[in-house]
Amino acid sequence: MRHLISPLDFSVEELDKLLALAGDIEKNPQKYAHVCDDKRLATLFYEPSTRTRLSFEAAMMNLGGKVLGFSSADSSSAAKGESVADTIRVVSCYADIAAMRHPKEGAALVASMASSIPVINAGDGGHQHPTQTLTDLLTIHSLKGRLGDMTIGLCGDLKFGRTVHSLIEALVRYANVRFYLISPEELRVPSWIREDVLEKNHIEYKEVERLEDALPELDILYMTRVQKERFFNEEDYVRMKDFYILDMPKLELAKKDMYILHPLPRVNEIAVEVDSDPRAAYFRQAQYGVYVRMALILTLLEVKLPC
Ligand code: CP
Repeated sequence: MRHLISPLDFSVEELDKLLALAGDIEKNPQKYAHVCDDKRLATLFYEPSTRTRLSFEAAMMNLGGKVLGFSSADSSSAAKGESVADTIRVVSCYADIAAMRHPKEGAALVASMASSIPVINAGDGGHQHPTQTLTDLLTIHSLKGRLGDMTIGLCGDLKFGRTVHSLIEALVRYANVRFYLISPEELRVPSWIREDVLEKNHIEYKEVERLEDALPELDILYMTRVQKERFFNEEDYVRMKDFYILDMPKLELAKKDMYILHPLPRVNEIAVEVDSDPRAAYFRQAQYGVYVRMALILTLLEVKLPC
């Protein structure tokens, strides 16, 4: 039985297959409409979510399966003190696969060790968000036709932004990928990303504070919001929250074929006027999240695929 806890749980070859399956699902949705008729997905969300939970639920429904679960810790027996390990043991009796979001780093890993069904990490604290990474990889591949040979700028809260950590870990496995890490000093990527991921893999990267300094060189700009829920005090959040605002005058500096991604939700970091620019790809990205989660469910459940 396999779980998805970290973006590195799949090899590059396995990822290629998963992305190809997601591409086929996009083109031929009817082919997959009943492949999970007898399956159930549990969504165990101890933290708020719109995209991840609903796209998982849409994914399972698109495959003919059913969904059950909870959308906050308060509405589950976690509020009475039940452990994640006990919860997943019980959920294993009710569902065939589970997606879990939890504010504590490592919670999905703990769950996977007690589970008798595949567990998917749908975000664990400020650590990882591997299914957002699958979404990002599918989006980049669909827009650019490749995953290597490009310069990617990651901008905003690189310290607490788990989508950033997972995406960097996944992308360093492709050839000729370079990074601009664009953040204020206080929100730089954690040292484990710099040392254990970028430097260990001899990846070219620059850390800059001004978005304008990086924009002209980028093939992909990955914007992120400042993660309010991970700050220890409101004052620091208020000081940081509008540090970056991508608007049309700034976008003038970018290449005509650069794409803008954002895991969403957006707060102020991309002006609404940018949404109508053809380079704005963040709502398409949310749609790709359904296809890739369908492919992930099929892969982890080892469902026999239609010809
Ligand atoms: N991208 C993402 O994780 O969004 P949600 O928090 O809405 O799930």
